[in-house]
Parts: sequence; structure tokens; C-alpha cells
Amino acid sequence: MAGAAGVIGIAPPVRIGERPDATDPAGAQKHGAPIAARPEPELKLSGVGHAFGPSAVLEGVELSVSRGETVALVGPSGCGKTTLLHLVAGLLPLREGAIENRFASTACMFQQPRLLPWKTARENVALGLKARGVARAERAGRADELGRRLGLSAQDLAKFPHELSGGMQSRVALARALVLDPQLLLLDEPFVSLDIGLKAELYALLAEHQASRGMAVLMITHDLMEAVRLSNRILVMVAEPGRIARRLALRGDPARRDDDWVYRSTAALLRDEVVRLSFGLHKAGVACEPALRVVGPGAIADLGTAAGAFAIEDDPPATKPSAHRC
Ligand SMILES: Nc1ncnc2c1ncn2[C@@H]1O[C@H](COP(=O)(O)OP(=O)(O)OP(=O)(O)O)[C@@H](O)[C@H]1O
Ligand SMILES: [Mg+2]
Repeated sequence: MAGAAGVIGIAPPVRIGERPDATDPAGAQKHGAPIAARPEPELKLSGVGHAFGPSAVLEGVELSVSRGETVALVGPSGCGKTTLLHLVAGLLPLREGAIENRFASTACMFQQPRLLPWKTARENVALGLKARGVARAERAGRADELGRRLGLSAQDLAKFPHELSGGMQSRVALARALVLDPQLLLLDEPFVSLDIGLKAELYALLAEHQASRGMAVLMITHDLMEAVRLSNRILVMVAEPGRIARRLALRGDPARRDDDWVYRSTAALLRDEVVRLSFGLHKAGVACEPALRVVGPGAIADLGTAAGAFAIEDDPPATKPSAHRC
């Protein structure tokens, strides 16, 4: 069944790149564009595996990211998401598989902020600019401007990392990556310690950078709703060893998604058996409704309430037998 597109939700199945039925309010009118055809990927991972000592952490990871798109990696703690991002960033030696990165520039924001403790927040933000030979005044100006957008005042930027809250440190780390105007931004749980108002502002800032510069984002998040809000595609990982078990393409332009769409789509996603398996929800005694399991295009009329938000790009690889019991 490889390549067969299933859907989660009520709207008719949409093949990748096809325009939706204009009479379909959920897919076409309310949510704008269909699942867009992707440009040729600039980042490609093929058969990537990794082990720490005898323990296999990643196995057979295939992944690609195109210009301008946001791809979210979700999965349980310890399944290898950070390891995967470190391989892409070149921070770990690649021992198995291939990684081809044709983006002109790549910047990372790591799970730990990794700020230099002897430099102020402003200097930390401007670090990459300094390495590029940008003059001091311009560095400070750009750091201040971006800092302001991220809710960091001039006073905050004059502080040293130990004088900043965890959320502030995260924002400095995000600013340090964004200030470089990368073509590919790698984010490891970037918004984890932020309040919802600030998150909303940072989502908007990210969207603005993407719209104006065509930046692509590969983002790890534990927050499924965040993944649904921001992404063009969601890759769901399972553990032991870490691998991608579900690939979902989301309808429409992330910048046009409203809260209602995000809530309903997340709820729909949480009823997918592979997602439930990935997050251990199958152990919680909540049954998957058979009709809401992943279905082929012919069976979607049974799907009750959801938003028609996703197309499944391909079938997951075989999971362990017990894994399918929800
Ligand atoms: N440097 C290392 N040496 C040995 N084992 C490691 C190392 N880094 C990670 N691991 C192990 O690899 C596995 C995957 O770790 P990783 O940090 O990639 O997970 P993750 O999916 O990012 O988890 P989380 O969501 O909690 O951040 C874990 O079992 C972890 O203990
Ligand atoms: Mg991690």
C-alpha cells in the first residue's frame, strides 16, 4: 500500500498538489489552499541510523525539507529527535545513511540554550554576526531589534545568561539563530518554557521570517497542537529504535489557520492509532474508534467530526504487533 493516501477527517481525500473541491467548505473555503505540491527538497536524509555504543537510537530515517516549509518532528521522549537534529546540524558524525543539505545556510536552536555565560544576552544574539564580520554598531542594532520582537528589552539584553529566566534564555537562543537569516532553521523545542501570549508572538515572527525570506524550518516539539498550528508536514516518530512511523501533510497555509481549526485538527490527530502509539496513549485505556483509524480514501464517510486536516503521505513501516492495540 505504499503511496496510498489516507486521510483523517471528513473532507474528501486530496492528493498532494491537487486542488480541493471548491464546494468543500472545510478544505477549500475555510482553510484556503490545499496541500501544496512541494518544491524539490533541499535537505534530504536517506536511511539515517545512529547508535550510542551498542544501543541503536535511530534506524532507517528518511526525511526531506523543501524551501519555505515547516516540518515538525514529534515523538516520545528519548526516541532520538535531538540526536536526529544533531546529525543534520553536523554535530554528530554520520555513520549510517546519507544527509544532503543544499540550503545555503543553516542555523540551530538547541534544546538547551547553550549561551556563553561570560557574554551579555545582546552579545550572545550577535555572536554569529560578529563571526561574519558585521560591524559592532550594526550587530547591536540588529540584536536589539530582534530582541524587541522577541519580547526582550534593552535592559534584558544587557544581562548575563544567569540573570535571565529560562524562557528569556530560550528567546535569546532563538534570536541568535534568527539574526543570521538562515535558509534552514533547526529548532529543538523552541517554545517550551513560554507563556501562550509570547508563544503566539513568536509563531507570528517565525511565519513572517518564512514569508519574507522563504526560510525552511525543521522543528522538534512535544506539543502536538503547536505542530498542527505551524507545520506543513508532521513526522511522527516511535522509539526503540527511533524511526518515522507516520508522515502527515497538512492542508492549507499555516499562517491562515485559526484556533478552531487547530483544536479540531489536533483532536483528530490524537485519534490516529499511530500517533496514540507514539505517545503511549494506547496504554491509557482509551479506545481508538475503529472508524477513526487511518483509512483509505474509500472509507472516509465514516469519519465523524474532525477537520479533514491531513493527508497521510505514505503508510508507516510495520510496527511491533502489540503496538497496534489501542
Ligand atoms: N551523547 C549520548 N551518549 C549516549 N546516549 C545518548 C547520548 N545522547 C542521547 N543518548 C540517548 O539516545 C536516546 C535518544 O536521545 P535524544 O536526546 O535524541 O531523545 P529525544 O527524542 O530528543 O528526547 P526528548 O524528547 O526527551 O528530548 C536516549 O536514550 C538517550 O539516552
Ligand atoms: Mg530532545
